[in-house]
Amino acid sequence: MDTKGKYTETPMSLEQFHISEDYGFILPEPLNDLPLYYKPWMDIARNMPDLISSHSLRLRIHNMPLLETHLLGTHCELRLAHLALSMMTMGYVWQEGERETVKVLPRSLSVPLCEVSQRLGLPPILIHADTVLANWRRRDPDGPFSMENLELLLTLPGGESVRGFFLVTVLVELAGVPGLKSIIDVINGIHYNDVAMVTKALDVVSQAIDSMKQAFKLMHEYVDPSIFYGIIRIYLSGWKDNPSMPDGLVYEGVQEQPMEFSGGSAAQSSILHCFDELLGVQHEGSSGAFLRRMRDYMPPSHKHFIENISSHPSLRSFVLQQADEGLTRAFDLCVARLVDFRNFHINTVTRFITIPASRAKQLRANKQGMTEDLDAIRRAPTALEERGTGGSGIITFLKTVRDETKEISISQCTNGNQVLPDRSMTEIQKAASELTTE
Ligand code: HEM
Repeated sequence: MDTKGKYTETPMSLEQFHISEDYGFILPEPLNDLPLYYKPWMDIARNMPDLISSHSLRLRIHNMPLLETHLLGTHCELRLAHLALSMMTMGYVWQEGERETVKVLPRSLSVPLCEVSQRLGLPPILIHADTVLANWRRRDPDGPFSMENLELLLTLPGGESVRGFFLVTVLVELAGVPGLKSIIDVINGIHYNDVAMVTKALDVVSQAIDSMKQAFKLMHEYVDPSIFYGIIRIYLSGWKDNPSMPDGLVYEGVQEQPMEFSGGSAAQSSILHCFDELLGVQHEGSSGAFLRRMRDYMPPSHKHFIENISSHPSLRSFVLQQADEGLTRAFDLCVARLVDFRNFHINTVTRFITIPASRAKQLRANKQGMTEDLDAIRRAPTALEERGTGGSGIITFLKTVRDETKEISISQCTNGNQVLPDRSMTEIQKAASELTTE
């Protein structure tokens, strides 16, 4: 029923945007192999850490045959091909670290990568939709979604930490699925002018955001910050706004002019974009522009879903108009949980990037008697010190995004948007601020 009391339009559904009721944006049951013809790709893609550490990946790619892509028939085959080709691309570009990058991606890799990317509507670089959404399998297919039962299909240097980094993010995405489904109920509830339906759906959204934060905590258990900072990060880096590759990358056989693409980042995850649009969070200026640009790094149907949410009547206006205490509380709780998630994210970034970056500066000044993990930090790429893999100036950006979220709370005077600091994390931030003071 619309506001005039008529049942007119078909209610919105996840299905129409190719989003799974069970898995959300995650690709349900990704394939773990391609047809035999593509063995030359998969043999390399399955062996990335060894080929990189033995400095032989570039040679293997130079010797790789140029394969046709028309034998890739299904969406799942195309997604696995994108994952494999874009991982090889990252390995090819960054095999020798930030100082010996390349200017040209050879045609045996660039041509099929661009063809597959075009068919999927994705950029020809490794993205969140590859490393996380299409890169998992369950050891026991009937078993639970747990760190013990999950495995990556393809991996990069960084051992258990790289596994943890991608798989914990799979669990964060999964934890958000009930919230995603409830977005539909919120929209339909507003459409039917049904306050109880909207309130109930918002309760599920706030619970889902909290579950995402709980899953996110596993990052601290499964990922070693020195390995993340010193080893993993460079392989996720792109060639846009990156001083190590100021001219971008030529995709040989595709275009003579170099192209620029941002690196892989969970800023390309659709789920928080959805909650922002639902609640009406406005991201302005350069941070807003960065987040909007990240939508071009998502599968097109996911981007359309986000855009569709904002094309419906505003939830915040509905809440203000109804002036219903329970509804307002439910709305503000969603805002508070989102702020809380973003605070936790900032603290994680401090621990995984800001602190190791400061330590790297100190260590470069003093090289004596270093353990292996400290050495990894010292040798970490310097161009990325102050930047995220997507190329942003990190902490300022993340705080702006967090503050813009706070601003939409309705009852500013209640406890609704006052997020209690996580004590252990506050100590980490304190340590970081001491380290970064030069
Ligand atoms: C060790 C773990 C993580 C690190 C070090 C990290 C780092 C970063 C960095 C540096 C940015 C700035 C944008 C860029 O340059 O790419 C960013 C943005 C972002 N990240 Fe993460 N991230 C981590 C885990 C996650 C997880 C698990 C999620 C959840 C899906 C996530 C979601 C986001 C979002 C949505 C943004 C955009 C800013 C926002 O909306 O608040 N990140 N992250």
